[in-house]
Amino acid sequence: MIVNIITLFPDMFSGVFSESILSRAIQGGHLDVRLIHLREYGLGSHRVVDDTPYGGGGGMILKPEPIAAALESLPERGHVILTTPRGRLFRQADALRLSSLNVITIICGHYEGVDERVSELFVHEELSIGDYVLTGGELPAMVIIDAVARLIPGVLGKDTTISGDSHYHGLLEHPHYTRPREFRGLAVPEVLLSGNHEQIRAWRREMALRKTRETRPDLMEHSLAGSEGKDED
Ligand code: ADE
Repeated sequence: MIVNIITLFPDMFSGVFSESILSRAIQGGHLDVRLIHLREYGLGSHRVVDDTPYGGGGGMILKPEPIAAALESLPERGHVILTTPRGRLFRQADALRLSSLNVITIICGHYEGVDERVSELFVHEELSIGDYVLTGGELPAMVIIDAVARLIPGVLGKDTTISGDSHYHGLLEHPHYTRPREFRGLAVPEVLLSGNHEQIRAWRREMALRKTRETRPDLMEHSLAGSEGKDED
């Protein structure tokens, strides 16, 4: 997958792409990240990228021309995403959907916002990573790319299953344990040592339902498992 990132702060990305799974995804040819420095498309000798809002109010708005020029410089643009707190909430289902695309382009929003005409002309979807406001769209872009990249076939090792992930079936994940069997007076639940796979599966499912009910009751309404879970009560 080619991921174009249009950003005012390309250096922010160096850490995430040079470590761990994302770095391996790039080395393995699953992910091709192309950073486009928006400043290079700024206007005039000062490379201006922002301006004050029409109608007054505080803050600066990203101008449309540099973003248009950056987008139009790309050999392939694919599916264009703008990161903004005004966007639709990014969820696991979106990560799965995006992971099947060949090319995506993420425009990292900044300052008070982006001139609306950018969205009207170029953007396929506006995504938010949560109901809070960050200083810019770079961290959201990293979050989206991380969530998407791990779903690209071949990126995670053979031993890693994504079907058990929190959110995969609309539920939070069951708890995990590893050695030692007892830690500071807390023992690993007996069922996990039983070797009875059917019982282990049932226990994990019950724990996932319980955790989701306690922590994210809103998720229960949407998940199929949630409605089954209600019948069990
Ligand atoms: N830019 C600033 N805050 C954001 C958020 N929560 N999601 C996406 N982009 C953002």
